[in-house]
Amino acid sequence: MRHIRPILAALAACAVVALPVAAQQDPIQNAIGARKAHMQLYAHNLGVVGGMAQGAIAFDAAVATRAAQNLERLANIDETSYWIEGSLGIEGTKALPVILETPDDFLAKQDGMKTAAAALVAAAGTDLAALQGAMGALGGACGSCHQAYRSR
Ligand code: HEC
Repeated sequence: MRHIRPILAALAACAVVALPVAAQQDPIQNAIGARKAHMQLYAHNLGVVGGMAQGAIAFDAAVATRAAQNLERLANIDETSYWIEGSLGIEGTKALPVILETPDDFLAKQDGMKTAAAALVAAAGTDLAALQGAMGALGGACGSCHQAYRSR
């Protein structure tokens, strides 16, 4: 039990230091930062399966499955807090205000991403041909949302 005390002290220090810092940040900038981070994670994992599909990286079913599962998990994160009033169509973001004007379609684009990522998980564990076959729909899910909701 002796080691509990320093852990509690460390947790208390984190709470004192980290929480006020987070609270001071601008919520609009937080939302923009969070969604860009989400997109970077998409791109990172897409790079793995895309590299295999294009033959730049050797196909490995386990590695491809992990990347595909990450894409699926990301696609299933609730994004409501990213795309908030006041955070669209301003400097420092390419997200277009139309996102909040056509929320049903924007959600449909997110659903398309979920479906494509789930299919990719199944394909990634099969073989290279299956992975390649599933990549088109996945890339399409990224691209169709960017086309409608991201400025160039
Ligand atoms: C539901 C819509 C949607 C889907 C699906 C989507 N994106 Fe995005 N993405 C956006 C929007 C909107 C932006 C602009 C965000 C901003 O600038 O605030 C963006 C920005 C990005 C960026 C730039 C991030 C930065 O740091 O500026 C990358 C990279 C990206 N997306 C990759 C992807 C990849 C890869 C996929 C698919 C695996 C994907 N996105 C799926 C809407 C989407």
